[in-house]
Amino acid sequence: MSGVRPPALQDRVALVVGGASGIGASIARAFVSEGAVVVVADRDADAVSMASNDMAAAGSATMDVRDFDSVQAAVSGVMARYGQIDVLVNSAGILTESPLVEMSPQQWQETIDVDLTGVFLCCRAVVPHMVARQSGRVINIASQLGIKGGRGLTHYSAAKAGVIGLTKALALEVAEHNVLVNAIAPGPIETPLVAGISEDWKVAKRAELPLGRFGTPDEVAPTAVLLASDPGGNLFVGQTLGPNSGDVMP
Ligand SMILES: NC(=O)c1ccc[n+]([C@@H]2O[C@H](COP(=O)([O-])OP(=O)(O)OC[C@H]3O[C@@H](n4cnc5c(N)ncnc54)[C@H](O)[C@@H]3O)[C@@H](O)[C@H]2O)c1
Repeated sequence: MSGVRPPALQDRVALVVGGASGIGASIARAFVSEGAVVVVADRDADAVSMASNDMAAAGSATMDVRDFDSVQAAVSGVMARYGQIDVLVNSAGILTESPLVEMSPQQWQETIDVDLTGVFLCCRAVVPHMVARQSGRVINIASQLGIKGGRGLTHYSAAKAGVIGLTKALALEVAEHNVLVNAIAPGPIETPLVAGISEDWKVAKRAELPLGRFGTPDEVAPTAVLLASDPGGNLFVGQTLGPNSGDVMP
């Protein structure tokens, strides 16, 4: 029928890590509605299987992104069942706040382990399969705080700057294998991750934003669909796209 757009991701197999909540869940839902075969991965087995049923995803996997054995086991399961992974989304993340002068080395390490090393471990497990097939897309969820920094967030800002650097370096390594690696650096988005931040901070933050408001996860997901799609995403290599209410203008 004329005027009906075909689904952008028909039959692509997508692994959405951190897909049980927030931005990852919105991306997973958007991928499902664009025809993708979506496997939602997250750390809690019940939460991830409930989320995957809710969004009519093809399946779910449990993994702790800090633990390479757990990541590899989940990726092997997806490969055994579907034979390929066309799109990897790395959206697992944690956020805590502390001034550096009070931050314990453990708090620093926890954030680096999940928010930066987790992205490395998921890429390490999945990208070799993409290189072997000479095809793939990797979408890493960074943050604008990796570009501009944030008070009380040295650990998080460092991890997210690391994700942006990792994205560029990996993109350089694998573009010749038709594996395109990019990042999304959202501004403040209403999700459980920011639920604990004080209302005072949120009011001040909203006032700083050119749009005057936080985004929603559903306003980030279309950027991931673009990066995963053909031809829309074909020319993005090592980029960091910024759905951020105007907070950062690179
Ligand atoms: N919400 C924002 O304002 C905002 C802004 C910029 C970037 N981000 C980034 O977006 C991503 C998604 O965050 P969100 O806001 O949707 O938060 P969220 O808390 O709703 O989702 C994060 C998900 O990551 C999972 N996760 C945490 N640790 C994990 C681990 N060790 N192993 C596997 N899964 C784990 C959680 O279970 C959760 O489902 C994060 O990387 C976050 O840093 C969020």
